[in-house]
Parts: sequence; C-alpha cells; structure tokens
Amino acid sequence: MILAHYYQNAEIQDIADVIGDSLELSRRAANTDADVIVFCGVHFMAETAKILNPVKTVLLPDLDAGCSLADACPAEAFAAFRAQHPHHYVVSYINCSAAVKAQSDLICTSSNAVSLVQQLPADRPILFAPDQNLGRWVARQSGRELTLWPGSCIVHETFSEQALLKLRLDHPGAEVIAHPECLPNMLDLADFIGSTSKLLHRAETSDATAFIVLTEPGILHQMRLKLPHKTFHEVPGQDGCSCNACPYMRLNTLEKLWHCLATLEPAIELDEAVRTRALLPIQRMLEMSR
Ligand code: 13P
Ligand code: SF4
Repeated sequence: MILAHYYQNAEIQDIADVIGDSLELSRRAANTDADVIVFCGVHFMAETAKILNPVKTVLLPDLDAGCSLADACPAEAFAAFRAQHPHHYVVSYINCSAAVKAQSDLICTSSNAVSLVQQLPADRPILFAPDQNLGRWVARQSGRELTLWPGSCIVHETFSEQALLKLRLDHPGAEVIAHPECLPNMLDLADFIGSTSKLLHRAETSDATAFIVLTEPGILHQMRLKLPHKTFHEVPGQDGCSCNACPYMRLNTLEKLWHCLATLEPAIELDEAVRTRALLPIQRMLEMSR
C-alpha cells in the first residue's frame, strides 16, 4: 500500500493508494491488511506506521526525510523538561520521534489537537511539545493553558507577512486559509485555520472562489485537481524565496519510490521497548478521535 502526504510531489500523489493528512494516514496505516506499507511522507510518519504494524515492512523512500519539529526535540532533553513538570499530562504532536512519543501520555495531530486537549481533565496541567505555534493556537481554541516546548516548523515560519498583505490587496475576495504551524501574526490574518485535510475541505465547501494558502504548496495539487474552477495563491517566504516547499518531504522522488518497491528498502526499524511504549499514546489518540 502506498500512502502519501499532501506535501509530496504531485507525481507521487498521483500514484498513491491513499493521500491524506497525518491523522488519516495513521488511521489507514492502523487498518491496512497489506504486508508492505510505503510511506511517502517524512520519517516520523513512517515510524508511526511501524509502531502500529511491527510485523509489517514499512518503507520510506528516503530515510533522510526528517522534520525540523522532530529534530528540535531530542529525547534526552525532552526527558529533562518532563522531569521539571512531573505532574503535567504530556501531549505530543505526532511530528516527533518514537523516543519522544514513548515519553508521552497522548499523541495528537493538527486535525484533532483542539478536541483532544478539550477532553483532558480540567484540573490537570498540560505539557505540549514540540510545536509552540500549534500549541499557542490550541491553547487559544481550547481555553486551556499549555506549557510549551519551544520547537517550530522551518517551512511554516518562512511566510512573509508583507507578501500576504499585498496578496490580500491584490485579491480582495480571496479567503486566507492557514495551517496552525504558522506564526501567530500570520494566523491573526487568516480567515480559516486547520490541518491540511481541513484546508482542503474548506476550499471545497467555502463560497469563495479564490484562496491564499498558508501551508506547504504540495497541497495545491489536490486543491487544483478537485476545484479547477477556483484559484489558489501561494504566499512567498521572506525575501521572496520559495522556501515554503518542505525540504524533507521533497527528498522523496518517484525514482526513490520505484527503488523502494523493487528492493523493499529502505525499511524502518525500531527498538521494541521504545515501540511498545510509543504505541500506547498513539492508540489513545485513535480511540479519543474516533
Ligand atoms: P497535517 O497533519 O495537517 O497533515 O500536517 C502535517 C505536517 O507536517 C504539517 O507541516
Ligand atoms: Fe516537518 Fe514542517 Fe516539513 Fe511538516 S512541513 S514535515 S512540520 S518540517
């Protein structure tokens, strides 16, 4: 089974069995009866599929496809942070390593983070890692105070506020839709905030015919395929760069995917003790977000 995230190159999305956000892809990885899962996404996503399917072969076309959020939260430093807050309930964004998941009480994605945090006992303090931008947005939406780990996504932090303001002036009817990993000043300018799948759904259901999209541009492929009569504008990074394509996601190519299918390599391998500890908070997430 070939799973692909919305940030993959268009030609990979076009041949995938399932295209989705982190939550949908985790659900599909949990429920598949395929013997081999090729995860066209980044390392933490393929690792999650392996945690859920220890006896299956889980392949990632390029093992170097990491994530700045996962890298910003090393397991030992996270253990020290937790030790400073021994009574906190630990909620970790799925964009983290298996070793950090293994230290967490609950995993969330950007699709379900607000709803999961709202379900936690009101008298329990919460640690949220590793994305401080998502964490601030979840705190605002849920009304809960969160103690944040100071990580961020290098892709969602590059968007230029000036370029966004200019785009809004040039396209006054366009709706601004943003991923919650963006910086707070950008989220303040958004009409709608949500995970990749929620942004796609919003584009499908909104009356607007033009959108300014504040997330990785890979998702524009599905938006344009599903909604050919609507217009989608990318927002450039600061200094006009187009550095909002995720450098990790884009390491996967059609050639590397072909190599995976031909050789069943490179495969994700995990320490069994870490895997079993990391499984619990993922299962809790899947149960709580049914
Ligand atoms: P989604 O869960 O919204 O697909 O986000 C994944 C991601 O890595 C965003 O940068
Ligand atoms: Fe990680 Fe950001 Fe890339 Fe998503 S877009 S995989 S959060 S670096």
